[in-house]
Amino acid sequence: MTVRYDPSIYDGAAAHYRYGRPAYSPELEALLTKELGLDGRGRLLDVGCGPGILTVRLAHLFEGAVGLDPDAGMIGEGRKAAEEQGIGNITWVQAMAENLPGAAPGPYRLVTFGQSFQWTDGVRVGEAVYDMLEPGGAVALILHMADGRPVPPSPGPPRIPHDELEALVRKYLGPDRRAGQGSPPTQAHRVEDALARTRFGTPRVIYAAGIPDLIRDTESVLSGYFSMSWAAPHLFGDRIESFAREVRDLLTARSPEGTFWDWPGDTKVILAVKPA
Ligand SMILES: C[S@@+](CC[C@H](N)C(=O)[O-])C[C@H]1O[C@@H](n2cnc3c(N)ncnc32)[C@H](O)[C@@H]1O
Repeated sequence: MTVRYDPSIYDGAAAHYRYGRPAYSPELEALLTKELGLDGRGRLLDVGCGPGILTVRLAHLFEGAVGLDPDAGMIGEGRKAAEEQGIGNITWVQAMAENLPGAAPGPYRLVTFGQSFQWTDGVRVGEAVYDMLEPGGAVALILHMADGRPVPPSPGPPRIPHDELEALVRKYLGPDRRAGQGSPPTQAHRVEDALARTRFGTPRVIYAAGIPDLIRDTESVLSGYFSMSWAAPHLFGDRIESFAREVRDLLTARSPEGTFWDWPGDTKVILAVKPA
């Protein structure tokens, strides 16, 4: 697969991302520490870091961290998040995964892809990452997974009405999902299958419990949509305010209190280790 990067895929989305996306499992740090024997040494590379969601969360587990993403807006938000939290051991690199190893040479103890591996030429990037890891180092593909996972009891507020919201997106943007100037990557194969075709071999899959009682407000739900490549602000053109108004009206009708239960699922960690 040849990946031609379209710089408009997340145009206008970065500012919404941190506010609008649900967090990964609170047990993620403990899981990675236990599975990989992390001891504070070595470096982290977070590929497709977006606004530094994993970079900022995991940097304290390492001597240093690199957040890499081709989108300047995302890198800017990551830098801001690190500054706000007083985290000083992160280097930010604006580049594609396909520019590795040159864009951010190794060695690394851990390379993470948070919901980003599907955007890359997986096998080629997986092979590059293998060479960049120190012996015994690991790659982790991290994503939310609700399908097939047990649903926790509702904490009270209604769930986000995703079916109705996605219908609204289709009303404005058409029946086929768009991203940038084209369409989002088709997921013919699971990301773990691409990794299995590299020297890493078949990865292990581990789940960390998602946040069972995550409550989001109307604006955060709207931001969540604007943070998606297939509903990014630029796609709506001058109809963006009209879309936002319809979303707010729908959400108010479904929850007059303006609060919603978000259940993105458990956090799926696809883990592969380079032999020591
Ligand atoms: C869904 S966001 C994930 C952000 C963050 N890692 C997280 O866990 O929420 C996907 C990110 O992948 C980036 N991306 C897209 N194509 C890429 C490529 N070829 N190489 C590296 N990153 C890419 C996008 O710019 C975007 O920031």
